[in-house]
Amino acid sequence: MRVSRADISLNELKGKAVSIFVFEDELADTVKFIGDLSESVKRQAQLEGYFGKREKVLKVTLPGERIPIVFLVGLGLKSKVRLDDYRTASALAIRAARESNVDDLYVLSPEMDHFISQAIAEGGLLGAYDFDRYKGKANGGQKIQNLYLIGGDENAIEKGTLFACGQNYARDLANEPPNVINPISLADIARNLSDDMGLDCRIYDEKELADMGMNALLAVGRGSVNPPRLIHLTFKRNSNTRLKVALVGKGLTFDSGGLDIKTPDNMRTMKGDKTGACIVLGAIRTLAKLNLDLEVHVLIGAVENMPGGSSYKPDDIIKAYNGKTIEIDNTDAEGRVTMADVLSFTSKLKPSYIIDIATLTGACAVALGPYTAGLFSNDQALCNDLLEVSAFTGERFWQLPIDDECLRKRLESPFADLLNSAGRYGGAITAAMFLREFVDEGISWAHMDIAGVNYYRESFGYYPKGSSAFGIRTILEWLSRL
Ligand code: BES
Ligand code: MN
Ligand code: ZN
Repeated sequence: MRVSRADISLNELKGKAVSIFVFEDELADTVKFIGDLSESVKRQAQLEGYFGKREKVLKVTLPGERIPIVFLVGLGLKSKVRLDDYRTASALAIRAARESNVDDLYVLSPEMDHFISQAIAEGGLLGAYDFDRYKGKANGGQKIQNLYLIGGDENAIEKGTLFACGQNYARDLANEPPNVINPISLADIARNLSDDMGLDCRIYDEKELADMGMNALLAVGRGSVNPPRLIHLTFKRNSNTRLKVALVGKGLTFDSGGLDIKTPDNMRTMKGDKTGACIVLGAIRTLAKLNLDLEVHVLIGAVENMPGGSSYKPDDIIKAYNGKTIEIDNTDAEGRVTMADVLSFTSKLKPSYIIDIATLTGACAVALGPYTAGLFSNDQALCNDLLEVSAFTGERFWQLPIDDECLRKRLESPFADLLNSAGRYGGAITAAMFLREFVDEGISWAHMDIAGVNYYRESFGYYPKGSSAFGIRTILEWLSRL
């Protein structure tokens, strides 16, 4: 689907479907732009008891008229509308239009500016997404060819298109099953991406990782026949770039739990444990298109966590890349063990910022529910910036504390520097504090725990079934504001 601006007025439009966004109880204000047909639309809305409540859609058919189908999409009360409501409205319009086999859809919104144009473009593209490459017959009707924003802002539409395509790229990767994506194939994808985008790419194989002392990452991968990889991509357009930023993504191509094996129910969707990695790949791909004046490094420990004769075990003591020793309490707390090595490797690059994104803990999902991700940081200014950006992108983040006073002692082991799991209570916090042990002092670091929001079994708003790639637009918007 292509999104673009249309200069046409609804008075002149012929033979195409239109979606009209309306504020609750102020339907007439937008519907009037359809001119001669506005009375019929209003009459049908009234008959159906439709007032434009938030997320409510009404399909109005006008047989034989110059505009055959109108979708009314409710934004809710004008006084309460937020930018994200435009994303949702756009996605709902696209879904409704697909079911009616529309090829081109025009959108008229009661308000339209730079930000709204970007939001409508994003919502439309994100809502149109479907992971259907393995299906003989696609779901949900015909694909829309064009989305036209009446009076939309061209630059903003372009930015929204780039952001949403970055997110859909990440979704495509994250949705791939674990028999297709393993550490080696993920590394191949990263290499192809860097060739396409003109990035630097360095992949470390298991022998190199052993020589480097990446024992923690290697330990997690030992039970699998698919050996681990460390992926390092760099984006840098000119030599005197101001700022160096590193993005680290959790890249567990499958998390069975290892010897502390998951229950069947909990193991399902664990192909999604590589979502952080897919997001940082999608982010650097988008960055290369945006051509920002930044030096951005992407680092991924690509590993498969499996039970087997050579698996790492509870009670193992492992020395990580930065020299700290870790006693394994639970092999299912593997993300932090892998990322320990990746974060200490990243610290050696001396970036000003490290942002990591990880499907790290079920505890975060329990704490915040399925619509809000956890945010942790050692730098309150960075955290505030990310929260501000997140209000703009509609990706909800909530800051959780780092608790040196009380919870830190749960990470202590009698025999090693750290224990890899500190129990159920406060599990998202202790996991974040474990990661912090591997970030060098002086680096501003933020950790996004997306375990609760990375995967949806049912679609809603602009999120389809499967991977959401939640968080990528917040990272991209934050980078473009630096
Ligand atoms: N990948 C999981 C976390 C997860 C859970 C992601 C649900 C998405 C949905 C992680 O590796 C894990 O297993 N964490 C354990 C940690 C525990 C053993 C301390 C958890 O959260 O149960
Ligand atoms: Mn796990
Ligand atoms: Zn995991």
